[in-house]
Amino acid sequence: MPIILAIESSCDDTSAAVLRDDRILSNVIASQQIHQQYGGVVPELASRAHQQNIVPVVDAAIANAGIGRKDIDAVAFTRGPGLLGSLLVGVSFAKGFAQGLGIPLIEVNHLQAHVLSHFIKESDDSRTPQFPFVCLLVSGGHTQILLLRSHFDIEVLGETIDDAAGEAIDKAAKIMDLGYPGGPIIDRMAREGNADAFHFATPSIAGYNYSFSGIKTSFLYFLRDRLAENPSFIELHKADLCASIQKCIVEFLLKKLERAVLSSGARQVAIAGGVSANSYLRQRLEEMGRRRHWETFIPKFQFCTDNAAMVGIAGYFKYLRGEFADISLPPYAR
Ligand code: KG4
Ligand code: ZN
Repeated sequence: MPIILAIESSCDDTSAAVLRDDRILSNVIASQQIHQQYGGVVPELASRAHQQNIVPVVDAAIANAGIGRKDIDAVAFTRGPGLLGSLLVGVSFAKGFAQGLGIPLIEVNHLQAHVLSHFIKESDDSRTPQFPFVCLLVSGGHTQILLLRSHFDIEVLGETIDDAAGEAIDKAAKIMDLGYPGGPIIDRMAREGNADAFHFATPSIAGYNYSFSGIKTSFLYFLRDRLAENPSFIELHKADLCASIQKCIVEFLLKKLERAVLSSGARQVAIAGGVSANSYLRQRLEEMGRRRHWETFIPKFQFCTDNAAMVGIAGYFKYLRGEFADISLPPYAR
């Protein structure tokens, strides 16, 4: 029954979690507000904020778990991909902490952690997927369709050839001057809008791959032309614009996902990553599941965006395999 302390610091969330086996005991996340005024994550400010947050966040995770430092059996940390300066803070902290206690380190890949978040147990009857299942991983940095045959046998069926879906949503929000990060704002505003008010074309890309840079550009040009006719166009149609661009991106994501699941023969489908918090995506995936008689797995909101609990569950499965990291291991950005 290992107790694992997990650390996540790959982007702009400082997070620590404690798990006993696959069971979550605590999950503390400090989000960095500083980036909002810049309209995106500023790497230098992110690593500085991680330095300020890491000790209180880890202390809170240990206290909330109701354990002491000496109870911890291993430290799992996100090694990459992410922002190098941000990763360094978590990696250095994890090494120091593990060395101080004389316990092993476990390195975790951030993307694998997002996908394995479905195995975090909050209670004895937490529902988890059965292998094989397909997972759509959609975040601010990644968009991939993955086939999982086991926790560590993961095949990439398709992925974006340029921007990530979350990046496209954030850029659409930026074009409309809605704030950062745009995903949650568009999600909220879209609820008041008509998703069929405007149509944006999606590119035809081979196989199960995606491309989002064209959608972003067509959204930009569409608005530029409308604004030339009426400078208040965005203000007047904000909700409809949010609903329409969200629908365009989500339908594109699901169209490919559905085909990929069909070809894989899997009967279970999951979503993970920050964009999986999107209410329209969640609703449309559930509809697809009902229509196809597939079982769907939609993470709780706290496990969608970056969090250490997902690092802890990935670390737990590596612990079981005896896969420990060397103290000299550097982080990797890509
Ligand atoms: O997984 P994540 O926290 O960080 C990365 O690993 O990238 O994902 C962040 C992304 C951002 O693009 C953000 O706008 C998007 O997830 N996001 C959303 C929602 N909540 C977060 N996108 C759409 N709807 C949401 N409700
Ligand atoms: Zn992430």
